[in-house]
Amino acid sequence: MIVAIDGPAASGKGTLARRLAQDLGLPHLDTGLLYRATARALLDHGQNLSNVTAAVAAARGLSLTDFDAMALRGREMGEAASIVAAVPEVRAALVDLQREFAKRPGGAVLDGRDIGTVICPEAQVKIFVTASPETRASRRALELKAQGEAVDYAEILEDIRRRDARDANRATAPLRTAEDAVVLDTTKLDIEAAYKAALGIVEKRLIEAGISSSRSLRPM
Ligand code: DC
Repeated sequence: MIVAIDGPAASGKGTLARRLAQDLGLPHLDTGLLYRATARALLDHGQNLSNVTAAVAAARGLSLTDFDAMALRGREMGEAASIVAAVPEVRAALVDLQREFAKRPGGAVLDGRDIGTVICPEAQVKIFVTASPETRASRRALELKAQGEAVDYAEILEDIRRRDARDANRATAPLRTAEDAVVLDTTKLDIEAAYKAALGIVEKRLIEAGISSSRSLRPM
């Protein structure tokens, strides 16, 4: 079973995807890390984010085992990732890696922006996780603070709006809701309520598709 979780920056999709993967006994891929690692590699080599040849080489050189996820999750790298992710050649260079991950025996959970629309249009479960920009900015501010980054709410909100606009308006694989995705708006939900809602969506889809899970899907 493939579970595709898409949504804008700081919508909570990563947390939901991780927990779903754990409870379903499936591997999880945070595809934002691929774009973040590509941007990181460019910057580490003194390359410009707009250097397409270098960006494609960096994307092709990625291996799923060598990410330092914590080091990539900062605010600066989110912005840089959004810039390289708008380059069609970079996206093309990362397609096979993501699809191979999704095709693991038993399936996988992937989260990103274009999983349900481009990477795995065949996914049995598609959830589009969203929340208001203000709620997402508050959550991101708390997260960054916990990681020791200096935070300014207004700047974070501005970042989120800029990233939303770039991710949704790019020509290739823009952020949008797949027609067969279930929208989960977490603006008024805490993490436990959001997780329960996500589990409910998965359970309903499993029943509709006649798929049985080897795991109990009750929250642990
Ligand atoms: O999910 P994230 O914040 O780690 O993603 C960082 C950036 O990477 C995001 O602004 C857009 C890009 N991205 C993308 O274009 N497609 C994906 N599947 C995942 C992320």
